[in-house]
Amino acid sequence: MNVKPIGIFDSGVGGTSIWKEIHALLPHENTIYLADSKYAPYGQKTKEEIIALSAKNTELLIARGCKLIVVACNTATTNAISHLREKYDVPFIGIEPAIKPAALNSGTGTVGVLATKGTLSSSLFLKTSKDHAGEISIVEQEGAGLVPLIEAGKINSIETKQLLIKYIKPMLQANMDHIVLGCTHYPYLIPVLKEILPTHVKIIDCGAAVAKQTLAVLDKESLKNPKKIPGKIQFYTNKDTEILISFLKDVDEIKQIAYLDF
Ligand code: DGL
Repeated sequence: MNVKPIGIFDSGVGGTSIWKEIHALLPHENTIYLADSKYAPYGQKTKEEIIALSAKNTELLIARGCKLIVVACNTATTNAISHLREKYDVPFIGIEPAIKPAALNSGTGTVGVLATKGTLSSSLFLKTSKDHAGEISIVEQEGAGLVPLIEAGKINSIETKQLLIKYIKPMLQANMDHIVLGCTHYPYLIPVLKEILPTHVKIIDCGAAVAKQTLAVLDKESLKNPKKIPGKIQFYTNKDTEILISFLKDVDEIKQIAYLDF
């Protein structure tokens, strides 16, 4: 069981930001990543559609023998993870906007959250933001249009920068000092964000925390791969392999990035 792979999925290339954190912490684990880019963005879909897509990805990963599944997508986590946990008999790790660390460290008392419509409208997100409502004020912003631009590889385009400037303006007007990236595609926007944001605004991205949680669950469930050889890495996309490759060009050891119809 322990040599079986960790499965990771996202609506597209964004979850590679999480895969990189997991691989850095757990280089001996075998991993299978699914980029469901054909159906991106998830953020504009209904809860039912997000659950159906998440179940499809999960079933493929389970069919390939995955011992644990990381839902590397805030939209899928906040809308579908409780359903997945009920239906499938593998441990799941999810990701949701990291309001807590932002709230704990905020000096101005105002925190911005940039996420998809699907995440911001989910009951899980509403609960988390309510839990912090007494301590801080949260300025929510839907990042409409950002995921399609990232999926098209247009990170450094004028269009992307202009959208970010528009989305960040109300947060700055409200005096935020932390911005929470509530979508796993958005860490790829950090260089552009740094050009726009005043230096005192901290960017909160919890990819590293997801990797630590993955390690903790592997330990707890006695699922850690005991082999001390580099893990086998498999990446699959149901859309454009070239785009996925461009997001992984900084990882030398990846050999297999393939098209798969799922
Ligand atoms: N990476 C997904 C997330 O974390 C993007 C959602 C989408 O496809 O709209 O929310």
